[in-house]
Order: sequence, then structure tokens, then C-alpha cells
Amino acid sequence: MMTARVDFRVTPGGSLQGKLRVPGDKSISHRALMLGAIAEGDTEIEGFLTGADCLATLAAVRAMGIAVEERSPSHLIVHGRGLYGLKRPAGPLDLGNSGTGMRLFMGLLAGQGFETTLMGDESLSKRPMKRVIHPLMAMGASIESRNGYAPITLHPIKPLEPARHVLQVASAQVKSALLLAGLYAGGYTWLKEAGPSRDHTERMLHSFGVHLLRESGWLGIHGGESLSGTRVEVPADLSSAAFFLAGAAMTPGSDLTLEGVGVNPSRDGVIRILRLMGARIEIRHSHLGGGEPAADIHVQGGRLRGIDVTPELVALAIDDIPAVLIAAACAEGTTRVHGAAELRVKESDRLQAMQAGLEALGVTVAAGPDSINVTGAGHLRGGEVDSFGDHRIAMAFAMAGLRTESPMLIRDCANVDTSFPGFVPLARGAGLQVSLDGQRAA
Ligand code: S3P
Repeated sequence: MMTARVDFRVTPGGSLQGKLRVPGDKSISHRALMLGAIAEGDTEIEGFLTGADCLATLAAVRAMGIAVEERSPSHLIVHGRGLYGLKRPAGPLDLGNSGTGMRLFMGLLAGQGFETTLMGDESLSKRPMKRVIHPLMAMGASIESRNGYAPITLHPIKPLEPARHVLQVASAQVKSALLLAGLYAGGYTWLKEAGPSRDHTERMLHSFGVHLLRESGWLGIHGGESLSGTRVEVPADLSSAAFFLAGAAMTPGSDLTLEGVGVNPSRDGVIRILRLMGARIEIRHSHLGGGEPAADIHVQGGRLRGIDVTPELVALAIDDIPAVLIAAACAEGTTRVHGAAELRVKESDRLQAMQAGLEALGVTVAAGPDSINVTGAGHLRGGEVDSFGDHRIAMAFAMAGLRTESPMLIRDCANVDTSFPGFVPLARGAGLQVSLDGQRAA
């Protein structure tokens, strides 16, 4: 099969200036479609992310009989059919590169009266699914997998049994899958988290009128609660803004405002970490839109210092550590990131990908099973870096071009489109000298 092969070329220098708005939040866009599909009545989604991951979720809900009108690509009306209104899809649901899509659909679909198969690309087929399969099986779900990996087939079972889950891994995807499954269980499903994770599902269930219970560290949901269609205002994605925050913070002379960014405290770790490193970041015009806090973020470039990033902070910045490590490479001293094992099972092994790329740029890196230490180099070499097909690795290294001495080529960047369509023109408009170097490859 012919696939598009895209590399990024970055000419060194420049700074980030002006005002910009990055695309909509990926986590919130997935959830708005899924909850809208099982709600009674219409759900209006504004600011929907048109990245490939969320478009795969859109195609999946449509394949299950849900009509979704596109007033514009990012303004959708989902005609919900209620908790039991989904229909058996004609074929497997292909979720592409999206771990969130696959894990949340596993929860949503495990208790349906029809069979579904979920599949994904090469990267998604290597990501661990037992963390969702096992607790769903404890609720009576009947699931077939390739030894814990996709493709996953969910056999019909109705209803699920309620259960008390003590989660083994701090993961919003696992938590969300079980909350969605809980809607299809007879009685209360309870769960206790292994550690903090983003709370978008809880907030959005509340906006759709579902009552969650919280009792001494346990979160409970009652099966059969109906959802009422609502309006979802999707803020700009903090994890897309993160590249610009790091890039501007580490580049003297930068002065950048990112508009309307989601600043949910359960995932604002990148702001906290960069501030601890000495970044000048100001939050302006904070407001609550549809249950999610959003704000403009103003950042100015300057000198950064290496810090210790605790496991608690890693959990709040789980997708943003690649951007932080680029800033660390430009800081004075060593940044030590602890408790980051989950980064090894994201779209790529991000600890390994960051180590390889930073070393190629002449930076001293030491990584362990769940840690990575980066010692600021003062200057970065240019050269060639592999993104391993991981969108966040590609965008993080693109920002390094602000501080390299010579040009950089970043390989295998087509997946930037999964979370950040239009990254290159937006980044160029702000002052990053990045361009696409596309070819067709077998
Ligand atoms: C997500 C949760 C995070 C994050 C992912 C999106 C979500 O994963 O890495 O990109 O939308 O629930 P965890 O399951 O590790 O929390």
C-alpha cells in the first residue's frame, strides 16, 4: 500500500511571537461525540478537533447509526439516540492511531446487545489493552483480543454486572472506559483511581445530567442513567499549546499568547513544570466554558533551569513531557523526570524516542525504566531525528529548531495530523521556520 511519508525540515533560529489559537482539545472532542451519541436529543459541539483521531471516532459513531451534521468541520450537531440507540456496525471500527478512541469505545460497547470489532494502526495494535479488558471482564464482558492487544472483539452481553474496581494504573482512558461501561451495568459501578488523571469524563457526564457519586476516594456511577443532549464548547488543546509554551519559554525574545486554551487543573502540569523551570507564563481571562476552564496563556522567553519533575507532576502533564524535555535540553543544569513509565506505552516509547532524538542533537541523556534525565547543552546541534511516527515527538523536536545551530530533519511526521491538523502553517505564522518535506513511499 502507498502511504504518505512526511518529514519536517526546520531552519534554525527565530522566536515565537503574536497570538494564536491551537485546535480543539482531543480528549474532550472524543468524549463529546461518544456521549452525544448515547444522549437523548441533540448535542452541539463547537471547536471540535478535526484531527485524524477524532475523525475516526466520528466515523465510528456514524457507523453505529448516529447522524452527525457538520455545520462546519469543527461545528457538529450529534443526533443522539439514547443509551440503547446504537446499532451494530457493518464492519470493524478502525480507530487509527487513537488509544483514547479504542479504550473508551471498549467501555461504551462492552455492554451492548451487538458484537463489535475494534482495530487500529500498527502503533495502536502494540498498545496494552489488558488494563481495560480485565476490569471489563470482571463486569461480565465477553472480550476477545490478540493476547491483550487489538484487534478487540466485544461479544454481545446485556447488561454488565456492577463491580468495584481498584485501578492498577493511573489512566484517564481506563477510568473513562469503566465509567462508560458503568452506564450499562445493573446497579452501581465503583472505582478507585491508582493516582490522579484528567477528569474530562466526569465533568462531561455532569454536563449531560449524569450524577456521579464520590465517597472516600471512590467514584460511583449508576447504570441506566439517561443523558440529555447539551452544548459542548471545546477549548483549545493544552497538549497542542504545550509545544508553543515550551518553544517560547526556552527562546529569549519570544512573546506569545495562546488563546482559549483548556486549563483543567487535572492536566495543567506543563504550565506548572515550565514555571518551576523559570518560565514567565501568565494566565489571563480565565473562564468556565461548558464545565471546562479555559484561558489565554501569555508566555515570554528567557533562561530556564533544570528541575526535578515528580511523578505527581508527570501525571498532570502526561502528554507534554516531550515538550518539557526539549525545554530541559535548553535549560541550565539537569532536569530529572521521575515516575514516567507510562510514557513507554504511548503512541511510541516516548522515553526512548526522546533519548534517541536528543542524543542526535548532542544532548546528554540518561533514561531508566521509568525516568529520564536531560542535561541542558547550552546549544543544540542540528541533524536528523526520528519521530517514530509519534505526533508529539515530531512537534516537540520541531520546537528544538528555535535553538539548534544547524538545520534539522525530523522523520516520519505524518501522524502530526492525528492531533494537530495545520501545525506547520500555524507554527510558521508564529515564527518557527518549519516546512513539510513530503514524498510518497511504499
Ligand atoms: C487521554 C488520557 C491520557 C492521555 C491521552 C488522552 C484521555 O492517557 O495520554 O492522550 O483522553 O483520556 P492516560 O490513559 O494515560 O491517562
